[in-house]
This record gives sequence, C-alpha cells and structure tokens, in this order.
Amino acid sequence: MAFNKDQFDSIIEEFTVDGSRLHEVAADFRYDLRKGLQDPAESSLRMLKSYVGLPTGEETGEYLALDFGGTNVRVLRIRLDGHGKFEVLKKVAKPLRVEGIYDFVGEGSTAEQQFDFIAELVDEAIEGDHTTKYLLGHTFSFPSEQTNLYNAKLIIWTKEFATKGVEGKVVNDLLKEALHRQGIDNVEPTAVINDTVAVLLAAAYKQEDTYIGSIYATGHNTCYFEPFADKAERPMILNLESGGFMKLAPNRFDAEFDAQSEKPGEQRLEKMVSGRYMGELFGMALAELLGEQGSKYGFTSIDMSNTILDETPAREEVKAIVKAKTGRELETADCELVQQLASAIVIRSARLVTATYVGIIWQLAGGKAIAKQHIAIDGSVYEKMPLAKENIMRALSELLGEDAAVVDTVLENGGSGLGAAIAAAMSQE
Ligand code: GLC
Repeated sequence: MAFNKDQFDSIIEEFTVDGSRLHEVAADFRYDLRKGLQDPAESSLRMLKSYVGLPTGEETGEYLALDFGGTNVRVLRIRLDGHGKFEVLKKVAKPLRVEGIYDFVGEGSTAEQQFDFIAELVDEAIEGDHTTKYLLGHTFSFPSEQTNLYNAKLIIWTKEFATKGVEGKVVNDLLKEALHRQGIDNVEPTAVINDTVAVLLAAAYKQEDTYIGSIYATGHNTCYFEPFADKAERPMILNLESGGFMKLAPNRFDAEFDAQSEKPGEQRLEKMVSGRYMGELFGMALAELLGEQGSKYGFTSIDMSNTILDETPAREEVKAIVKAKTGRELETADCELVQQLASAIVIRSARLVTATYVGIIWQLAGGKAIAKQHIAIDGSVYEKMPLAKENIMRALSELLGEDAAVVDTVLENGGSGLGAAIAAAMSQE
C-alpha cells in the first residue's frame, strides 16, 4: 500500500458526521428556521417568499414552462389535465455553454445575450407560432427576492454562474424584453418560482401530504409550505436557500475549496453536499493522499459514483478513473481506500441534507406529533448517487426514531418543468 493509513483515517474522520453532530445540525437548522420566520436577517436561511401555496389539483390547460437553473436550459409545452395528470407536448433543451464555442454563463457574457438565447429556445418550443396566447411559468433556480408571483429579482448568482447584468434585475422583465426582441409578444411570463418550489408543486399536484420540496443535484436547496398559523401572512411556500445554511463544521477541505470558489463565504452547506462540489472535495483529499496537495484533477460526482460502484476484484474501474484524472497507477488496496473516501463524502452529504429536512419537520410539528408526509426530492445525486438514498433513510431513523415510519422521500423527476406549468396555471387563480 502506498497511502499513509493514519493520514487516510484522519481524512475519513474529518468527513464523518456522528450521531450527536447530526442532531445538532437538525436542531440548529430548526433554530435558524424559527429565527428566519421572525426576521430573515437573523438567520442564515433566506426564507424567500414564493407567493404561491399548494395546488388544488384542479389546475388544467396548456402552458409553457421554462426551466432555467443550470447550464442546460429547457422549454416545455405542457398540458395539465388535473389531479397529477399532464402531458409534455413539446420539449426543447440547449446548454448555455458549449466549451470553446459559446458561453452565456461566464463573466464574459451579458444578460441580453443570455436571455436572447433563452428566447430563441422559447421560439423553438412554440414552433415559430407568434399568435397563439401562452402563459409561461419560469422556474428560475437561483435566490430571488419576490414581491409577487411575477416579480422576482435575482439577489446573487450561485452555482458558479457569473453573467453580468442579471443580479439585482427582475428576471421576467429580462425575459419579456428578450421575447419582444424576437417578435414573440404572444408569450406572457406570469410566474417565477424556484426549482425547489417547482418540485413541491409538482409532487403536491400528484399526492397529498407533501410539504417539503428539495433539489439534491448540481446544487442543493429546500423549500417548504409554511401555514403561517399566526396569520402573519397568507400560507405560502418559502424557499429557504438552505444551501446557504451556515451552522456547520466545515473541515479544512471545505474551507480551502470555499476560499477558491466564485463566491467565498456563500453557500456553505451547498459546497459540502451538492453534486457540483463533491467531486472537488474528493479530488482535494485524494491529492493529499497522493502527496500532490493543491493539484486540481477535475473529478466529478459521476466519477465518484463509478468509483463507489466498482466491485471488480482488482478495482479496475477505480484504477482507470484515478489514472485518467491524476496520471497515477494505484494498487488495489489503495483503490479500496479511494472507494471509502468517496463513500464518506457521499454519506456526509446525505446525513447533512437529512438533518435539514428533519429541522423543517420538527418546526412544522411544533412539538406535536409528526404528521404523515412525503418529502419530494429531485436531482441526480438523490436519484443516482450510490449510498445517498439509503443514508437519507438511515439518518431519518436516527433523528426521528419511530416517527420515521410516517415520513418517506419520493423522487419527483422533472418537477421543474411540471411545477412551472402549475405555477402559470395558479397565476390565474
Ligand atoms: C442553488 C440555488 C437555489 C437552487 C439550488 C438547486 O442553491 O441558489 O436557488 O434551488 O441551487 O438548483
């Protein structure tokens, strides 16, 4: 074996969230939630109002849905048939960046370029029809300050986006202007929602007892339905921007990665748990084990997934992945340690994410019995990363004990598009 076992053990230890820490994170999250309900400035959770409640299931009709939240932008034409039924009539998708060809997410790009590109995609979805009236729901998956369902201002880019001239702007105004420049005046954007809100709307359209919506993918964030029992507000979904949760114990890899990121100090939870970042943390820890501290290898969460899944006796897959990214040939015993490292990072991620869900569940229960409920989750990490789901379930049991029996998680695949269409329908209620 080439790796130093003591060094390895201490790295694993740094990525471990034990039972008592898990409880602390859940309790701290609930504390921030309570504080945030009184005054968001006192909390690391943004508690952004969505101005939308839960759907009744009666929402029907044909709508356009724009899903803008990562490098891949999608526009869908969707017909809602009520009570969870719907049909996607048309779907177009394009990346906002193609390496070496164009880039509408980097700091060299402008709001006009970005939204013109999106407006062209809308044009494709309506197949050049500039007469039929369409309402458009816009899933815009970045922290936005809303004053109503239409008016959402981007507070700050996350997920390493850096396009100039969007922060501080009303995104639907930018979209409307771009649509107008393309001669598309028959499409009216009427609603903007976060992707977590879209997931919750889509799931609640299909089944009752769903109050929490979450994205566990490139980015991570959660929203929930706040009943405002004290009548301070009308009941509505709050986007927590939980990726910005701060009451955590970042290890030195987290701290070092944060310092080099696009927005140091922001999105501390997201940088510890989401798909965009886990590969980076894995690479940093591996660099230490290889005696190449500071090297950037560009591991992705897909590499981690393939690493964990390799069951070949000689760990051929792990060897190939490590060779391709670092140029180094590992012995089988070291490959097994590399698998443990990847697993530890994924397990930490699932445990931290679950602690935040439980913080919300506790807050909603308000000291009374925990209601039967589903947590709706969308995203590649939840769906595809080995160990993620089972560790969510395990952490739910650890935190909730017997009450874990009334809580389950459901995959709400593609909720961003469906949710946007539902929001467009709800904008007319
Ligand atoms: C980032 C965004 C948030 C979004 C999440 C998942 O955390 O700030 O708004 O919900 O990514 O896409």
